[in-house]
Amino acid sequence: MDKLIINGPCKLSGEVKVSSSKNASLPILAATILYPGNIKFKNLPKLSDINFFLQILESLGANTSKDNEFTEIAAGSITETKADYELVRKMRASVLVLGPLLSRFGKAQVSLPGGCAIGTRPVDIHLIGMEELGAKIEIDKGYINATCDELIGASIHLSFPSVGATENIMMAAAFAKGETIIENAACEPEIDDLANFMNACGFEVSGAGTSTIKIQGKKLSEFKSENTINYEVIGDRIEAATYIIAGLMTDSNITVSNFNPQHLKDVLKVLKSMGAKFEIDKRSVEVYPSGKLQGAKVETQPYPGFPTDVQAQLMALMGVSNGYSIISEKIFENRFMHVPELVRMGMDIELDGHYAFIHGVDQISAAPVMCTDLRASAALVLSALVISGETIVNRIYHLDRGYENLELKLKALGANIERVKE
Ligand code: UD1
Repeated sequence: MDKLIINGPCKLSGEVKVSSSKNASLPILAATILYPGNIKFKNLPKLSDINFFLQILESLGANTSKDNEFTEIAAGSITETKADYELVRKMRASVLVLGPLLSRFGKAQVSLPGGCAIGTRPVDIHLIGMEELGAKIEIDKGYINATCDELIGASIHLSFPSVGATENIMMAAAFAKGETIIENAACEPEIDDLANFMNACGFEVSGAGTSTIKIQGKKLSEFKSENTINYEVIGDRIEAATYIIAGLMTDSNITVSNFNPQHLKDVLKVLKSMGAKFEIDKRSVEVYPSGKLQGAKVETQPYPGFPTDVQAQLMALMGVSNGYSIISEKIFENRFMHVPELVRMGMDIELDGHYAFIHGVDQISAAPVMCTDLRASAALVLSALVISGETIVNRIYHLDRGYENLELKLKALGANIERVKE
């Protein structure tokens, strides 16, 4: 298993370009199942999660090919409608093939994803939505079996604005008869990007980015298999936030580019309240040396609130800021796996239920640490950047799931970081 060796303290400078968003790419890859023509993506992020999703599409019968810049997918050849346990167990997001398979083929069999390190993560809201469209759902031997004669557009009110459920239901509604309205839909920018992609393919989705999304059902016969759609996924706001926090923790002047800063409105608001100095441009944020920041009180919330995917990185920053901070994690019940590792590095953090109480310390120190999940791993790397001496971060395959070339990008900014292959 590869590990990272970081020799700090590091001062960063220059520009880092974020990659296309992982969390937008995965549902969009699932949506390719709906389209019988060819799709050519520019700059999909080079991540193990993306490679893995391409494998799932291939296992269903799609043809995929890629070079350094472009990834092509032809899903017209899909005939298989079962996503096997062996594939789904490796990545929860594979449950996103359920909606598009059901919509296009009238049936889908997808292994029920289990929980993961950060929570139990049920998919009940996905399934209720599909039932409301007329699907018959059975759970048998660990598989979700969904079937229908015909899906019929419906008005669906989500009990919680789940990102994955909103995406899955949007895709299920693509070939449903008539109009589907999703109320209390998730508003994340990644949902908006999925709608843009579906519209580029010829589907009719409106309202994405608000809590009411409308989908006018289409017929498969309206789509031509000889057409090619070109698409580029939005920049990764979570990766951008991670580098912005890296700049602040190391008291550096860096520019984080290739994303829409509007997508990080709440994160930037919180950082500003802590004393961060930065300038926002159309497609970038320039971070200035801001000295030690002040503590803050933050609650993770569905978009446009503070994203749970930046919670761990923010906690690392709070751990070395002045004063007292509180984080309340409202989205996932077990998303504090990074805390014991941050404490091993010398941070002063106490947990009580979904609250973390953080007393900023002047100095943290080198310790071997272990990645537990994707964003938790980022928090460990950020902390290592400010530590005097060598930190070894183990089990970095979590990072490879969601950060393209993390160590190369940090190195280009001047960090003393090496990957050791084992
Ligand atoms: C997506 C993101 C993930 C991010 C999360 C919240 C992808 C691939 N992943 O995950 O990085 O952390 O949004 O912004 O885009 N829930 C239910 N029943 C359901 C669905 C969800 O109870 O049917 C609960 C979950 O257990 C969780 C909360 O709702 O507590 C939010 O989950 P959801 O928004 O669905 O997150 P994901 O789509 O899984």
